[in-house]
Amino acid sequence: MGAQPQAVERRLHRLQQVMEQAQVDLLVIGPSADFQYLTGHMPILSERLTALVVPRQGRATVVVPRLEAPLLADLADRYNMAIWDETERPAARVAAIGREIGARTVAVNDQLWSVFLLQLEELLASAAFQSAAGVLSRLRATKEADEVALLREAARRTDAAWEEFCATSRLTGQTELQVEARLRELMAKHGITDEVFCIVASGPNSASPHHHNTDRVIQPGDPVVIDFGGRYQGYFSDITRTPVAGEPHPDLVKIYEIVKAAQQAAFEAIRPGVACQDVDRAARRVITEAGYGEYFIHRVGHGLGLTVHEEPYLVEGNAQPLQPGMVVSDEPGVYIAGQWGVRIEDAVVVTEDGAERLNQVSRELIALP
Ligand code: GLY
Ligand code: MN
Ligand code: MN
Repeated sequence: MGAQPQAVERRLHRLQQVMEQAQVDLLVIGPSADFQYLTGHMPILSERLTALVVPRQGRATVVVPRLEAPLLADLADRYNMAIWDETERPAARVAAIGREIGARTVAVNDQLWSVFLLQLEELLASAAFQSAAGVLSRLRATKEADEVALLREAARRTDAAWEEFCATSRLTGQTELQVEARLRELMAKHGITDEVFCIVASGPNSASPHHHNTDRVIQPGDPVVIDFGGRYQGYFSDITRTPVAGEPHPDLVKIYEIVKAAQQAAFEAIRPGVACQDVDRAARRVITEAGYGEYFIHRVGHGLGLTVHEEPYLVEGNAQPLQPGMVVSDEPGVYIAGQWGVRIEDAVVVTEDGAERLNQVSRELIALP
């Protein structure tokens, strides 16, 4: 993923503004989507510390082991490079920056390994450590126009793979793993090969929302929860459809229609200013009033971007208001253990006055041979 240098410059500037508002003196960011967002690079994640160290003012520093420094060489134009040798303790390089600026408040991102955080806490014993999640999500949760364009394209290509799957594939007699292989092939055909994921949960397995695919053979009448996506130029797609193998049981049709109505209710709730939890409530109300509330066992959605699950989370307890440019999933489900489950999921972008689905393929119950 290659974020444009101007975008990186702008993001860093904005980050330091937010650090000023939040009174954070130093930010330490391990290999993660946060690092990628602020540099355009995804460094190697290992026991050797790589980190982006951002002071509230002035130039940021990339801490990197000597043997991996060539991978980040182009960052030298914009960042100080603290290249550490094999016998050094890299946390000491970070601590030295903290001491130099007299950092009293140090924020770390969620993906900085605890081994490094513990060393930093020891080396900067007088500083207060806190989570950087709030600071970073104020930037990343609201997508820039270029980011929305890539998310739109990721969704479009994923939709194309799904339409081709529906036109050319059977479910009955296939194993979950065979269906996964077919979808991966189609995702590749439509240009998505990076970090592809694909849940294929058939029959009773469909009641397990994050099922691990097996060699179970799909039977006539089975619903099959198919939840898949992947990265296109760094940005993820994430869609779920629940087709049925052959003729659906009337009870399955009933549940399907409830989930579809809940998904639509959540979509209609999404607009700027609405609290994240109110989107969850809109879907949950439909499912609860239909008598299936206890079977909707997860939040209605999550942010989508450089990672599949990120802020903002559409969940009870999150009063954060939606803003134009946020991209979220809308994915209610009903899961009845031992029987079956249904989930319908689209990616949705918050617009200036409402919302727009990035996934356009049919949400009707589809029967495949
Ligand atoms: N797939 C539902 C969730 O993780 O929120
Ligand atoms: Mn999904
Ligand atoms: Mn999702």
